[in-house]
Amino acid sequence: MRWFIPSLLGLAGLVPAVPAPIALPGVTPIVKGKAFDRFITIFLENQDYAKVAIDSHMAELKRHGILLTRCYAETHPSQPNYLAAIAGDYFGNNHDDWVRIPENVATIVDLLEDKNISWAGYFEDIPSPGYMGNYSDGSTGTDGWDYVRKHNPFVSFDSITNHGERLLQIDSFDTFQRAFAARQVPQFAFLTPNMMNDGHNTTLEFATEWSHKFLEPLLADRAFDEPTLIALTYDESEDYAQPNHIVTLLLGSAVPPALRGTTDDTFYTHYSFLSTLEANWGLHNLGRYDVGANVFKFVAEKVGYAGNRDPDNAKSVNNSVSYPGALHNTTDKVLPYPPPNTRLIGASGLPVLPAIVKAWEGQPGQGQKTWQTPYDGSGRVVDGDLNLPVYKSPLE
Ligand SMILES: *[C@@H]1O[C@H](CO)[C@@H](O)[C@H](O)[C@H]1NC(C)=O
Ligand SMILES: *[C@@H]1O[C@H](CO)[C@@H](O)[C@H](O)[C@H]1NC(C)=O
Ligand SMILES: *[C@@H]1O[C@H](CO)[C@@H](O)[C@H](O)[C@H]1NC(C)=O
Ligand SMILES: *[C@@H]1O[C@H](CO)[C@@H](O)[C@H](O)[C@H]1NC(C)=O
Ligand SMILES: *[C@@H]1O[C@H](CO)[C@@H](O)[C@H](O)[C@H]1NC(C)=O
Repeated sequence: MRWFIPSLLGLAGLVPAVPAPIALPGVTPIVKGKAFDRFITIFLENQDYAKVAIDSHMAELKRHGILLTRCYAETHPSQPNYLAAIAGDYFGNNHDDWVRIPENVATIVDLLEDKNISWAGYFEDIPSPGYMGNYSDGSTGTDGWDYVRKHNPFVSFDSITNHGERLLQIDSFDTFQRAFAARQVPQFAFLTPNMMNDGHNTTLEFATEWSHKFLEPLLADRAFDEPTLIALTYDESEDYAQPNHIVTLLLGSAVPPALRGTTDDTFYTHYSFLSTLEANWGLHNLGRYDVGANVFKFVAEKVGYAGNRDPDNAKSVNNSVSYPGALHNTTDKVLPYPPPNTRLIGASGLPVLPAIVKAWEGQPGQGQKTWQTPYDGSGRVVDGDLNLPVYKSPLE
C-alpha cells in the first residue's frame, strides 16, 4: 500500500515517499519445531470410536493421515475434556456449567508464550473476541445456541481472562479463515466448530462431512508455508457405559508421507496433545497429567523420545466418571486444586515452567513432607471409579 499526503503533494509537487515496510501486527517469527512448526486441533462432539472409524468421510480423511486406534477422552460430559486438553487436568469437573479456574493454574498458553510461539483459540459463532458469556446464537439462524462456553476451555482460566492480550486471542472462525488466507495462522490453533458442525446437535455424518469440507483447503499442497500437524479429535464418546474411546486423526503436511493411511496403536489421551507439543518445541511442562502422557509416535521417533509405554493400569481404562476435585458439583467430592508436581521432568527433558514453580511457591505443603499431589509422571490412567488419583508427597 502507498501512502499519499495530498496537501504536501499539492504544495511541493513532491514524488510520494515510499514508507519503510511496516511489520503487520500479529505477525511473529516462526519458532521451528522438531516434527512440525504448527499444530491445529479441531474438536468434534460425542461419538464412539467404533462408529466414527467406519464413517465414509473419515475413511477418505484417513487416507491422508494416521488414525490413533487407542485414544481416550478423560471423562464425561464435554467441558472437563476441553479443560484437560489445555491444562493437563480437569480438576474433578463433572458438569457443563460455568466454571472459573484461579490465576495460579497454568495452561498450554503459558508454555507456548514462554517460547514466543503464537497461539489462538477459534470458536465458530463466538460473537466477539474474548467473549466470556455462556452461550450465543449464530449462523444457524434459529435463535438456538451455536456457540457455547463449555466447548471453549480458554475463557474459564483466570490465567487467560485476566490478561487482555491473551483474552483477545480467543476469536472466531472468520478470523481463522482470514489468517489462513493471509498465511498467518498462529503456530498453535485450537478450533471448536459450532453446535451443528461439531455434531452435538446433528449427527455423526453431518460433522464428518463438515470436517471433510473444512479440512480440504487445509490439506491442500502448500496450504501452509511450514510443516503443519492437524489433529481432528472428539471431546468424548457418546456411550457412557463404554470406555471413553474416541477417534483422533493426525493430518497435515507434517505427517510423513510413508505414514499416510496408517494406524498407530499407542495408548493416548488428550494429555498426549500437551506432551507432544512439549516434545516438539522443547517446552517446559505443567507438572500435571501432561507429564507421562505418551507422545504421538511419529513425533516421539523424530525427537528421540523413548518414554512411550502402556500405563500399568491401561487394561482398566474407562474414563467415564470424574474423580473428586475443585470443580466437582457434589459437596463431598470437592477438593482444593492440587499443587503441580514441580519435580517432574516432561517429554522435552525440561522441568516444570519456572513461572509455575514461582506461582506455587509458599503454597501449603509445597516442598515439604506434607506436600501432596496426584501427579507422578507415570502416565497412569485416572478416573472416578477404578483408578482414583493417588495423592502422595513427591519427596517420599
Ligand atoms: C452435577 O452435574 C451433573 C451433570 O450435569 C448433574 O447430572 C447433576 O445433577 C449435578 N449434581 C448437582 C449436585 O448439581
Ligand atoms: C452462566 O451460567 C451460570 C450457571 O452455569 C450462571 O450462574 C451465570 O449467571 C451465567 N452467566 C450469564 C452471563 O448468563
Ligand atoms: C521472546 O521475545 C521476547 C521479546 O522480544 C524476548 O525478550 C525473549 O528473549 C524471547 N524468548 C525466547 C525464548 O525467544
Ligand atoms: C443445540 O442443542 C442445545 C441443547 O443441547 C440447545 O440449547 C441449543 O440451542 C441448540 N443449538 C442450535 C443451534 O440448535
Ligand atoms: C465404565 O463406567 C461406567 C460408569 O461408572 C459404567 O457404567 C460402565 O459399566 C463402565 N464400563 C466398563 C467397561 O467398565
